[in-house]
Formats: sequence, C-alpha cells, structure tokens
Amino acid sequence: MKQGTGELIELTLQNGLTGGRLLCSQNLIPSPGQYLLAHEPVSDAPLPAPVFSAGSIAGGFLVAPPLPPLWRPGTSLAVRGPLGRGFSMPAPARSIALVALGETAARLKPLLAVALGQGASVALVTDLDLPDLPPEVEVQPVSALRNVAQWADYMALDLYRESLPQLREMLGLGEHVGVRRQAGVRFEAQALVVTPMPCGGIADCGVCAVTTRRGWKLACKDGPVFNLAELF
Ligand code: FES
Repeated sequence: MKQGTGELIELTLQNGLTGGRLLCSQNLIPSPGQYLLAHEPVSDAPLPAPVFSAGSIAGGFLVAPPLPPLWRPGTSLAVRGPLGRGFSMPAPARSIALVALGETAARLKPLLAVALGQGASVALVTDLDLPDLPPEVEVQPVSALRNVAQWADYMALDLYRESLPQLREMLGLGEHVGVRRQAGVRFEAQALVVTPMPCGGIADCGVCAVTTRRGWKLACKDGPVFNLAELF
C-alpha cells in the first residue's frame, strides 16, 4: 500500500452520477475491483471516500461515480492504496458476463477491455442506459440474468451489500452450478460488494462487514471482491 496525492482534473456525468478523471502516480492506480481511499485535506469532510477505477487515462485513471459532492475539478486529494482484493478473470474464460446491479456499471468497465482482449464473448447485464460501449458487447436486461448465468463461464458482478440476499434467487445459481459440475463445465463468479469503507481496514471499524459462509468478513480487506462461493 502506498500513500500519495492525486488531482481531480475533470468531472464526468453518466446516468445522473458524477465521476471524474484523476491524475496520480502509476503505482497508485487500482486494478479492477480494488480501490483507493481518497480524502480532501482542506475540507471538513471527516472521512475518506473509496474510489474505484472505471478505465485508464494517461497519467491516472477514470474514477467511477459517485464522487463526494464537494469534490471539484482541481481538487487535490490525499490518497492511499491500492487497497483490497480485486477481480481475477480467468484467462481461459470465453463467455464472460459482467453484471451491474447497482446504480452504475463503471466499476466493471475496466474488465471489458480485459475480456475482449482475451477473445471472449462478453455480455453486460444491466438496466442502465450505457451509450458508449464497444459494439462487440451484448447488453442484456437484469431480467435475463438467470439465462446469462447459464451461458457464462466467468461472471463478475457489482452490487450493494443489501442486494446479496436476493442474488441467489435471481441467479438460480444452485441449480445450474450443480448441473454444470456434473457435466464437468468450469464456472467461476466473483462479486464486488459495495459498502461504505471509511477506515480501509486501519481501525477495524466493522462498517464494511459482509456475511459469508465462514462468518463475517471485511469488504475493505477481505474484499471488496469476493468469490460468489464464499457468499452463498
Ligand atoms: S472500513 Fe473499517 S473495517 Fe472495513
């Protein structure tokens, strides 16, 4: 983990949410699913905010929305990271589903380039309006999630912690994983569980706790990306 500074050089708007462009040193740029904790030292904001990458730019990265409302272009941020466990897309995966169940698909966007780069077919499952996707990406509504889960050999999800109880039913996961195991078909799934992460693990505040098969885990340190098998 490193500490440093970043400069927010521009704000962007998508689906009514504000993201931005952050300049920082290369070793601070989070990989997909990892995050930085960023704090504006001159404001009264008491807590740092987790920021995730939505893609690459020269000298920094696109910051996924939402950003704290007081941040403006030119804001200088104290940052530390990269923190947490990110996505690990298996290189042999050829049918990849990215599933955005929250208010943004931006935290999954860096995976698009990785998936297309390894020659996979990619489906993005979301009910959001996303105008600037590569033409190779097939967009499916959330109502098609169960079918897409049966097609995919790797699935990356992004959802709020509060949505976890409904997810298993939405996926029909128990049924189709059992059928696939019997057929010897490989299937992996990971979920970025979005929670507040005010201390990033330094104070063990517990605000980011997630229930797993092995008890409580901290999204800030053990996640925020979890294998789906850990969660169900
Ligand atoms: S954010 Fe404090 S323990 Fe995770």
